[in-house]
Amino acid sequence: MMQPLRCWLLLSLITFIVIETKKAPEGCFRAAVLDHVHQTNVRQLSDFAKIIELNFKVYEDAAALAKKQGADIIVFPEDGLIYNIASREKADEFASDIPDGETNACTLETKSVYNRLACLAQKHEIFVAADLIDRKSCEELGISNTSDSCPADKKFLFNTAVLFDRQGKLLGRYHKMHLFGEMTMNIPPKPELLVIDTELGRLGMQICFDMIFKTPGHFLAEQNKFDTMLFPTWWFDEAPMLSSSQYQMAWAFGNNVTLLASNIHRVESSLLGSRGSGIYVGPHQTLATALYDDSVERLVLANVPIKPRETDKSVCPLDSEIIEVPQQIPIPNSVKYHHLNMNLLDVTLVELSSKDSEFHICYKGVCCQIEYRLAVKDQPRESWVDRVPLLANMLEYFTPEERYYLMVANRTRPGTYRWTEEICAVVVCPSSRWNIGKVEKDCSQFGSNQELNSRFVYAKLRGAFSESTAVYPSAVGPKNQLINPENKWKYWKVNVPDKPEHFVELGAKDNPESKAIELSTLALYGRNYDLDPTYKQKPVPINL
Ligand SMILES: *[C@@H]1O[C@H](CO)[C@@H](O)[C@H](O)[C@H]1NC(C)=O
Ligand SMILES: *[C@@H]1O[C@H](CO)[C@@H](O)[C@H](O)[C@H]1NC(C)=O
Ligand SMILES: *[C@@H]1O[C@H](CO)[C@@H](O)[C@H](O)[C@H]1NC(C)=O
Repeated sequence: MMQPLRCWLLLSLITFIVIETKKAPEGCFRAAVLDHVHQTNVRQLSDFAKIIELNFKVYEDAAALAKKQGADIIVFPEDGLIYNIASREKADEFASDIPDGETNACTLETKSVYNRLACLAQKHEIFVAADLIDRKSCEELGISNTSDSCPADKKFLFNTAVLFDRQGKLLGRYHKMHLFGEMTMNIPPKPELLVIDTELGRLGMQICFDMIFKTPGHFLAEQNKFDTMLFPTWWFDEAPMLSSSQYQMAWAFGNNVTLLASNIHRVESSLLGSRGSGIYVGPHQTLATALYDDSVERLVLANVPIKPRETDKSVCPLDSEIIEVPQQIPIPNSVKYHHLNMNLLDVTLVELSSKDSEFHICYKGVCCQIEYRLAVKDQPRESWVDRVPLLANMLEYFTPEERYYLMVANRTRPGTYRWTEEICAVVVCPSSRWNIGKVEKDCSQFGSNQELNSRFVYAKLRGAFSESTAVYPSAVGPKNQLINPENKWKYWKVNVPDKPEHFVELGAKDNPESKAIELSTLALYGRNYDLDPTYKQKPVPINL
């Protein structure tokens, strides 16, 4: 009699394991973010309806794959379906009219992008966060047609993030507050501070350039108003502080929240590199990110806590995975990743000139100290050049050399858009020997696309910033890849009255076992939001 029962138990246990492996543990949910390659048909560049179709097909496949891997939510990027539209009329043509309230958007007749996204959520029974264009007349917003704040065509077009639940119900709608150029779009007349209570915790939304500013994200985080920020973005990487994954990580850690970031993956652009999507759990200092040089579409999946500040790290192991998503118009992989470099106006750089030391600089009130130890460079293996000493000398002479600098700044950043920065960081500038004199105070290129020869056994930065400054920590290694904090580095702050101190520590000072680490940037990037000049939408000299 026992036998069949045992069999049944065993069978149900196996079934249970098979079905439940991908499901997030209790108190957690499984998130998916798409690192999305634009599906642009180069022969039909202005056929936006066709381009939306191609990209929507990839969204469909991504949602199905995410669901199959146990995801509860999928986040899509900014401008993932509608992009490169330069005229107001065209933008209006592909805009949706997104209601405020909760509706079952999938049952409606019209098949606007908005409705189709609702159906995507319903079909796959998955929460969907995505970005599109919302249209609102001045009248609908209670603004008179003759008012100065009503645009000439008597309507607003907003770069908009939406969130649907598993039934395709609209849970929230957020209009991007900080447009980056985007002259066909409008800034919402009132700030939008949206948080949405769901079974996945309390969720906030912000879009791309918003992440630089105080509202909505930091402002809400400061008051513990949400658990997880949904972040559709199309980010242009800038070394050494503001590359996409780097700043996503820094923002989540600095604000002590979870961040689900979905970015456009477009490495082939001649100057502006975009790549890097990920899942970051601030209070646990854990992350999963996709940062690739190729042009493959990928999903990043990981478990995250519903209540990150109240959940122990052991409760929600990330259990992350990165999977490929089929594309409609694959892009050849023969392209090189590009990024912007920081403008160094009013930035102090001091070279770390010895192998094992300590430096301390204060500049315009920001104090920055580094304690570090560099490992001896690996001796290159003997090769044929060693037997030809003259040639070896010449090669060494022209080989790029790594120079490390302590970087300190307290400035309003130059450029079209201006914001305040307080910086304490150590950065690498690869430079050639033959222009050493010039390079000293004038790094033109940060980060490293290659492996690094230098290795840090230990590095600890200590920065003293203004009391009101929000500090964002990050660590980047060779090939512009993130250094995972797991056993390698950590960030903390000490609340000294009037002078809070922030620390990042890489490696372990007294542990002879600790492995030396290739480092390109270790940074405490401070934002003194209260001193920012007023934000105004301006054209940017960039052809998207
Ligand atoms: C405002 O302008 C819109 C678009 O031109 C028009 O449809 C609407 O009737 C106008 N409202 C008023 C009160 O004039
Ligand atoms: C983040 O929140 C956790 C839990 O509230 C707290 O223990 C930790 O110190 C915070 N970390 C930072 C860097 O503020
Ligand atoms: C940085 O400069 C601003 C503006 O001059 C100043 O108010 C602030 O106190 C400075 N930061 C520090 C840490 O002293």
